Amino acid sequence: MVLSSQDTTFAGEYSSITHNQKYMQLKNIPRHGSTNTYDHSVRVAHAMSYLAPIFHVDKESAVKVGLLHDFCMVDYHKDDKATHHGEWYCFYHPVEAVENAESEGFYLNITEKRAIWSHMFPLSKSIPTSRLGYMLTLADKKVAFEESFANAYEAYQHGYILLRGMTLRLLPIRK
Ligand SMILES: [Fe+2]
Ligand SMILES: [Fe+2]
Repeated sequence: MVLSSQDTTFAGEYSSITHNQKYMQLKNIPRHGSTNTYDHSVRVAHAMSYLAPIFHVDKESAVKVGLLHDFCMVDYHKDDKATHHGEWYCFYHPVEAVENAESEGFYLNITEKRAIWSHMFPLSKSIPTSRLGYMLTLADKKVAFEESFANAYEAYQHGYILLRGMTLRLLPIRK
């Protein structure tokens, strides 16, 4: 699943984050079977930009937490529980996302940090406590569902094409 042209344009508008060297490494970290963590974060941030006026939340804040919520350099497919004291990825990656964001110089106020920490709700150490937090957990789940479904749809299409090719080969051809 590739980024749409609208998502790519949107990412370019927030280049202070999306062009950051460490942040760009998220492109190498797969997510939801069909995408990578960079593209996933851009999609979540784009969804947040639409939700912000509906929830009466500051758009810049909404986009920022969308972009930074999964800023963790661990590929959960390869997580052997040897690091992070054996903790599950869903519990530690929001904490690490905030740490990485701050170490790269991105300022997050306490509401933004809490929104990121709780975005995996109910599989989280804390619950959302603000409109920003509920927006983020909703946008993240919506995008994650679409990305996971896209993979299933592509697999179905691939299987269908293979099956169709096999069927055509089995049919007698009249000249
Ligand atoms: Fe996450
Ligand atoms: Fe996410």
